[in-house]
Amino acid sequence: MQKEIVNLLKKENKLSNDTISEIKDIDLSDFSNIVKELGKEDTEYIKASEIAKDLNTEYIGKNLYIYKEVSSTNTVAKFLSMNGAENGTVVISEKQTKAKGRSGKSWESPLGGVWLSIILNPNVDHSKIPLITLATGVAVAKTLENIGVENPEIKWPNDIMINGKKVCGILTEAVAKFNTIESVIIGVGIDANLDVEQFPEDLQEGTTTLKEVLGREGNENSLIKTFLEEFEKISEQFIHEGYEDILKEWRKRSYSIGKIVEVREPFNTYYDAYVIGIGKEGALVVEKIDGTLEKVISGECIIKN
Ligand code: BTN
Repeated sequence: MQKEIVNLLKKENKLSNDTISEIKDIDLSDFSNIVKELGKEDTEYIKASEIAKDLNTEYIGKNLYIYKEVSSTNTVAKFLSMNGAENGTVVISEKQTKAKGRSGKSWESPLGGVWLSIILNPNVDHSKIPLITLATGVAVAKTLENIGVENPEIKWPNDIMINGKKVCGILTEAVAKFNTIESVIIGVGIDANLDVEQFPEDLQEGTTTLKEVLGREGNENSLIKTFLEEFEKISEQFIHEGYEDILKEWRKRSYSIGKIVEVREPFNTYYDAYVIGIGKEGALVVEKIDGTLEKVISGECIIKN
């Protein structure tokens, strides 16, 4: 986060070169107000005023920090969360220079996409975090349906697909203190007003964008607003009503169920399997070639058919 603060301050000419070297020794919480202040400035495309106008939520997005450029909205959200940002705070950036994807991968985040992180204090057990990711996937899918995308699907655990190509990824990270979860940072990246050619060549085949699917550019601010509303509805459902209905919604939109996949679990355990469904705790249930059933809790599932 030191680097993050230096970059933000440098960009805004709020820090002279001489003091940059000193920043390492300073208590980072001293800077939380500056980071907050910078997140209230006006940006070019993403506008707090447009998102906040008629935003129909109780707490999600009531506190918005919007930046022109940060390394990763998840990193800034973590910092703000550790410095008192309240439940439902949303961090958005028009660009990210060091965005994080799942499994330690990087994430392309040029101008034109929707890159945001939500700080949630759901007061739930660690084991429920995968379900929050699944619920977020349902909220994104519903958002896309609202803006006219036909049949968005969810590839376990968290890729949103249109016509078999990825349009959105979700990265959930926990902020823990003394072994208890203080908050959950839910990072969402939607390839909105982008052209596939803007992505590195090796990603182009498996990627799509909303602009490509809808044949036009859309309004990022209203997309964000719709998503925040859908997200609050589903997180309320998650917190108060349990997750059976959310899992039903997930299953309805599943891209993975019924497919043959290569399961790649951490520590290099790879095997082929048939996807049967999704379990109560959000794990993918697969049948291996030898007929045994397995629950996949983390890792990747590469679709083979
Ligand atoms: C994936 O690998 O599919 C997850 C990608 C998550 C990207 C989003 S963009 C906003 C937030 N900030 C990050 O650094 N990552 C997430």
